[in-house]
Amino acid sequence: MLVLGIETSCDETGVAVYDSERGLLAHTLYSQVKLHAEYGGVVPELASRDHVRKILPMLDKVLAEANIDKADLDGIAYTAGPGLMGALMVGGSVATAMAYTLKIPVLGVHHMEGHLLAPMLENNPPAFPFVALLVSGGHTQLVSVTAIGEYELLGESIDDAAGEAFDKTAKLLDLEYPGGPRLAAMAEQGIIERFTFPRPMTDRPGLDFSFSGLKTFTRNLIEKNRGEDVLPEQQTMADICAGFQEAVVDTLVIKCRRALQQTSMKTLVIAGGVSANTRLREKLETALSKDGGQVFYARHEFCTDNGAMIAYAGCQRLLAGEKNKLEISATPRWPLDQLIQPQERV
Ligand code: KG4
Ligand code: ZN
Repeated sequence: MLVLGIETSCDETGVAVYDSERGLLAHTLYSQVKLHAEYGGVVPELASRDHVRKILPMLDKVLAEANIDKADLDGIAYTAGPGLMGALMVGGSVATAMAYTLKIPVLGVHHMEGHLLAPMLENNPPAFPFVALLVSGGHTQLVSVTAIGEYELLGESIDDAAGEAFDKTAKLLDLEYPGGPRLAAMAEQGIIERFTFPRPMTDRPGLDFSFSGLKTFTRNLIEKNRGEDVLPEQQTMADICAGFQEAVVDTLVIKCRRALQQTSMKTLVIAGGVSANTRLREKLETALSKDGGQVFYARHEFCTDNGAMIAYAGCQRLLAGEKNKLEISATPRWPLDQLIQPQERV
């Protein structure tokens, strides 16, 4: 089955073609980072308009790279949520209009299910069952995954998501948007031991997270260490980044090990933007190898938002016979354990 995947939930336009027989045939991504940088965050209306501008040329490009014609497609998948309403509507409109004219099925995919399944695009994919750590800008969740579509939420953040904590802390340090990867890069120059941040909610049982306190901790450190200028000097900034990153990573590692123990599973999948973090990958690999476990993740470009993960997730569900009515589906808030929207599907 040949499936076109479209991702427009936030500030990245992603388009890809996945074939159930031959794998990923082509994918292309356009990031709006520069557009939003001067505002320090994503401006929803600008995001929607830019998706409108980019999506059709990107579609043509991906079909040409895959060396196929629109008429060869067997189905179309698009991100139906969670995400920004206007941005979601762009992908949904294009996908639904194409499916109507081509007379093929169309399916709205859950963005986090796309992330969760992205490691399946790699050469050595994980086998079910596994625990998934979903760490993005909007979500931090531990999920027990027994099969595609069978997800049980084990724990989640009660306040900021891990990526959000990275971004907000980066903003305090005046790092340019998007802050997460910049903070991670700066942490590499820092001395981890100089500042000891708390590991929130690790001293009590359970699998929930809380990251908002780390922001406050950072704010206080900046206050204490500020130089003549508003911000501390460069090395202190790097040390703060290293201490912050270590606290987030340690907290995630502790909870992942706990989730694996609780479910008696050995396989961990990490997905979403923060799964690109090198320190997180290293520390999980070390911790899990001691426990006889294994960690799987996607290549860097498929950790953050992309069309390939939507084409893959959509293909699996279309193969199982699911499809939507020919109505655009956009669900800005959509829990992962309520994947089927009965009113939308046929
Ligand atoms: O999955 P994603 O692209 O978008 C959402 O669905 O949210 O994740 C973006 C998030 C941002 O918060 C970004 O700062 C974070 O992932 N991120 C990172 C790294 N790369 C991206 N955080 C820490 N270290 C990184 N290397
Ligand atoms: Zn995402």
